[in-house]
Amino acid sequence: MTDPPAHGPPFAGYQSEIFLLGMGGTTPEHPVSVDELERLVEEQIADPRATAYIFGGAGREDTMRANLAAFRRRRIVPRVLGNVADRDLTTTVLNTRMPAPVILAPIGAQSIVHDEGELATARAAAAVGLPMVLSTVASHSIEDVAAEAGGPKWFQLYWPRSREFASSLVGRAETAGYEAIVLTVDASLQGWKPRDLESAWMPQLAGVGLANYFSDPVFQALLDKPVDEDPQAAVGQFIVQYLNPELSWDDLEFLRAETELPILIKGILHPEDAVAAREREIDGVIVSNHGGRQIDGEVAALDALPAVADAVGDDLAVLLDSGVRSGADVVKALALGADAVLLGRPYLWGLALDGEPGVLAVLERRHTPGRVGDVVGWARVAGFDSVSVDLIYGSPTETLADWRASLETALEHGPDHVSAYSLIVEPGTALARRVATIEPAGPAVPRANNTLRAWASIPVRVTRA
Ligand SMILES: Cc1cc2nc3c(=O)[nH]c(=O)nc-3n(C[C@H](O)[C@H](O)[C@H](O)COP(=O)(O)O)c2cc1C
Repeated sequence: MTDPPAHGPPFAGYQSEIFLLGMGGTTPEHPVSVDELERLVEEQIADPRATAYIFGGAGREDTMRANLAAFRRRRIVPRVLGNVADRDLTTTVLNTRMPAPVILAPIGAQSIVHDEGELATARAAAAVGLPMVLSTVASHSIEDVAAEAGGPKWFQLYWPRSREFASSLVGRAETAGYEAIVLTVDASLQGWKPRDLESAWMPQLAGVGLANYFSDPVFQALLDKPVDEDPQAAVGQFIVQYLNPELSWDDLEFLRAETELPILIKGILHPEDAVAAREREIDGVIVSNHGGRQIDGEVAALDALPAVADAVGDDLAVLLDSGVRSGADVVKALALGADAVLLGRPYLWGLALDGEPGVLAVLERRHTPGRVGDVVGWARVAGFDSVSVDLIYGSPTETLADWRASLETALEHGPDHVSAYSLIVEPGTALARRVATIEPAGPAVPRANNTLRAWASIPVRVTRA
């Protein structure tokens, strides 16, 4: 059981609160704009190695940028006059009830940006009732984080080399009251992150983020001497255990037998991998490219979402992270098939700026999901059940060429078909070569952009050549 949130729903109306306080001369203590928050934190973090670690991505950081661009390419089509007085943002994902469809993504070694690290994050998450996912490479242990704050929590597993150790971590999480296991599968090899390589620094090698290892009896039994007596050897054993490139689909049977908790796989981008997860009795998938930190050039997570949701969305929980920066982004992800999203870097920026109140400001008021309440209001839906793909105008925001390029990418990346609206494909183009058929996929949706023009947008199913 989890404690009721102290700050509670409805995750909306914060705007009024800000203006009312403004009448007494008080302006918000933390940045309201997420971009400003990011800028401030980048400027203020004292240790450039920590800056590199939290802001950096793999390779030329193309995928990191693509994650953000994929959200920008899509636009919400609001509906009006729908009585949005009561907006219910609550949802339940795999038996975890949450006041808004937003979960704090697992982020390791949080004490590099604030001494209290995950403890502060856990308190802020619990205060608003949003679930947090604790990383295997956390700066505070599974038990300490659980003791600190009673909000809903899931545990993220980096499956170590030793199965016995993996089983110990999962058992500890289950005993401590974590409600799901998130197995991250896109980090079996270390991502090539030039910013980290330039500072030649990784927090874990400096002993940060190893609380779950050093406190584990199975890990301790792998050491010749206690951690305090030979910390270097303990870090050496961490290096042996940390990544497990031998992990394969067959290992999932072991994990499934280990725990009664729901299991989600984090790092799915291809629909067939989602289907493979379903075949192994996995309960959910997280469409994610690790925030562009693993393989540069990977598809943006949002672009990969519709095909995965199409393939398994009726049977599994489908979540998304990588690039979520605002309430509008949450609504877009939900409209494209996600049941909830994971918020990553923005809450870490809040933590870096001001510890627990900084995280709380991000979660409660300013960005996500505070803004979700408004966006849902604009979209004329009284709850997330009614968020659907027809609220997204999948048309270009920059250029038509961008829109076609994104469809081409979607088709290139594996799904047999993608959904679009009123698509015209010109013969001889790169997109035309990828498309086999375009069929109507539902009734036309009337649209109007101003009083002079109206048109019908027809959902279509585009099949890959
Ligand atoms: C500094 C940092 C550390 C991270 N550590 C972990 C981790 O320990 N385990 C994990 O599964 N994902 C980890 N991630 C990935 C996040 O869970 C999430 O997928 C990513 O932050 C989403 O991208 P975004 O923050 O750009 O939206 C980390 C991300 C960052 C930025």
